Amino acid sequence: MDVLRSVDEIRRKVQIWKNEGYSVGFVPTMGYLHEGHKSLIEKAASENDKVIVSVFVNPKQFDNKTDLETYPSNIQGDKELVENAGGDVIFAPTTAEMYPNGFATLVDIEGLDKELCGATRTGHFRGVCTVVTKLFLIVAPDRAYFGEKDFQQLAIIKRFTKDLNIPVEIVGCPIVREENGLAMSSRNSKLSLEEKRKALIIIEALNVIKEMVYQGTVDAEELKKEAVRKISTIDIAKIDYFEIVDPDTLEKIDEVREKALAATAVFIGKTRLIDNMIIGE
Ligand code: PAJ
Repeated sequence: MDVLRSVDEIRRKVQIWKNEGYSVGFVPTMGYLHEGHKSLIEKAASENDKVIVSVFVNPKQFDNKTDLETYPSNIQGDKELVENAGGDVIFAPTTAEMYPNGFATLVDIEGLDKELCGATRTGHFRGVCTVVTKLFLIVAPDRAYFGEKDFQQLAIIKRFTKDLNIPVEIVGCPIVREENGLAMSSRNSKLSLEEKRKALIIIEALNVIKEMVYQGTVDAEELKKEAVRKISTIDIAKIDYFEIVDPDTLEKIDEVREKALAATAVFIGKTRLIDNMIIGE
């Protein structure tokens, strides 16, 4: 599995593939790959002739220095996973390659970045939009694959790709969970066994309100209250947000009459986990 470090190298590779008439799928990641990433790479491999996986821990999307510095990495493990999933090459640029001295351009999005994760992580989505735009322009893929685990990120990427007429099809992929329901995340590696067990309260709360909707509760405030109450029974859980929103606009809704998205971010100890679930289908 080749790991290319420079923009020129990956561009040359893609150009050769395009000259051969191959379609190119792209899976952007920050590495420390797990089964969730693998599902994206496998889907990309099933729909494209060639698949590029990027591994780049993007400093511009971290609002917390410690979070950036302690972000896990394992390029050897990543190479094996990409190979097993059917990927063809890894693009793993250095920070200097992506943001050389004098770098001054940011891609910002209005509205969609204000709620949910955007409310407490100032500048986070500007960082995501900037790096993903750069990656799209470097790799020029036909299709790019993103997980619904980061639902807001997926919605934002769909929006700016359309707004900026970037010729790439954005494909959303379902959340991959551990057998016990915990959404897979590179950040789970930071949890102790005890914290992992306590983190299950997140999926339990989401399941409870999904069931409440099924049983007839429509009032979003009541559903939210119950979820917050449940999560708060865990001593080390601190809720960043718990919201019920329209899955297309991400605006808060008062009543769950049709498809709605329950989305949450919860600190388990020092680790911030996100999860979401479509309720009321
Ligand atoms: P990262 O957190 O590494 O995630 C890379 C991709 O994998 C994202 O599209 C994310 O939604 C998806 N993913 C992560 N866990 C998943 C799971 N359990 N099930 C399904 N998909 C999952 O998201 C980022 O990196 C960055 O913000 C990035 C887009 C690469 C820009 O820097």
